[in-house]
Amino acid sequence: MKKIILFFIPLFIFASEPITPIYKVPYDKQKAELGKKLFFDPSISEDGTVSCASCHDLRYGSSDPRAVSVGVHVKLGRIQSEPVYNAVFNFRQFWNGRARNLYEQIDGPTHNPVEMGLNSKRVEKILNDNSFYKKEFTKIYHKNYITYEMFKDAIVEFEKAMVTPNCKFDKYLEGKVNLTKKEKNGYLLFKKFGCITCHNGVNIGGNSFQKIGVVYPASNRVGDRYEVTKNPEDKFVYKVPSLRNVELTAPYFHNGITYNLNEAVELMAYYNLGLKPKKEEIDAIVAFLKTLTGKSPKILKANK
Ligand code: HEC
Ligand code: HEC
Repeated sequence: MKKIILFFIPLFIFASEPITPIYKVPYDKQKAELGKKLFFDPSISEDGTVSCASCHDLRYGSSDPRAVSVGVHVKLGRIQSEPVYNAVFNFRQFWNGRARNLYEQIDGPTHNPVEMGLNSKRVEKILNDNSFYKKEFTKIYHKNYITYEMFKDAIVEFEKAMVTPNCKFDKYLEGKVNLTKKEKNGYLLFKKFGCITCHNGVNIGGNSFQKIGVVYPASNRVGDRYEVTKNPEDKFVYKVPSLRNVELTAPYFHNGITYNLNEAVELMAYYNLGLKPKKEEIDAIVAFLKTLTGKSPKILKANK
């Protein structure tokens, strides 16, 4: 009897998991390859020094290891960069959700004077003056003038390919591998403590706006949802960040306040749940979070 129960319980748990494995997003291969070129090209910036990849560094899970990014003319930004990996799964873009989708999002860094600092006409001029882009865009879009909209369209197709499949946790959900005792315990604590109420779904986050400081008030609030809505209730409210690849994307939080993942977990437990977990519990949650590190997107492997 016991054996039968043990057999059925895991099946039941899988069926009702609040986290779901990554899935492939269809994209146009040719456009995505072109988008990849644009993503890594610093010539598309006001002083020729900054590309998307400058602040979305692939060695750091497509995030920025600096607490705030550095744009053209070495100007400092004011908020932590977010990963481009799996951003396609987020319900809005940016910490405060001011862009509804990836296409809208690109206007932000392109035009921002402390990021790439170009208006749409300058982007078009740079691209149309470049014989490589002229040839490639004409081949794909069948127009003899490259527009800013085509530029955005190609980058979005690339971003759709920027997903990180086959992390250990996804394979566990699919019944292909098992977690260690510590990792499993970490996942159980993640659910028991209530982390899962905000960090869930395919991106383990990225699907709701929530407050930082639900139980104990936080003190820093740059670039929060209040800046978009001017509703006082939206002070300290941010899009919940995805926890996929979180092992690689330090520093953490919108202000990059810590590089230490254990400390990030401790801060979350305290500020948003009013808990002070034991050291072993924090370690177990971190072990679970490390199972969310996926494989590098396929599109990056081919001719870079
Ligand atoms: C100078 C640094 C910098 C450059 C250049 C830059 N970004 Fe970002 N990116 C950031 C920062 C900082 C944020 C977070 C800003 C915020 O939320 O207010 C961000 C956010 C994003 C997001 C939102 C992710 C999410 O989960 O909400 C995407 C997508 C993105 N960038 C893509 C790009 C693309 C594509 C380019 C090139 C066209 C680019 N970035 C250029 C620094 C940069
Ligand atoms: C009430 C919603 C909520 C709960 C509960 C919650 N979080 Fe968060 N989490 C957030 C928000 C919002 C942020 C972004 C806050 C900021 O940047 O200031 C965040 C950020 C994080 C980050 C930093 C990610 C990054 O890339 O910067 C980690 C790690 C994290 N949470 C883990 C946890 C863990 C572990 C728990 C449980 C102990 C937990 N969270 C509970 C909403 C929540």
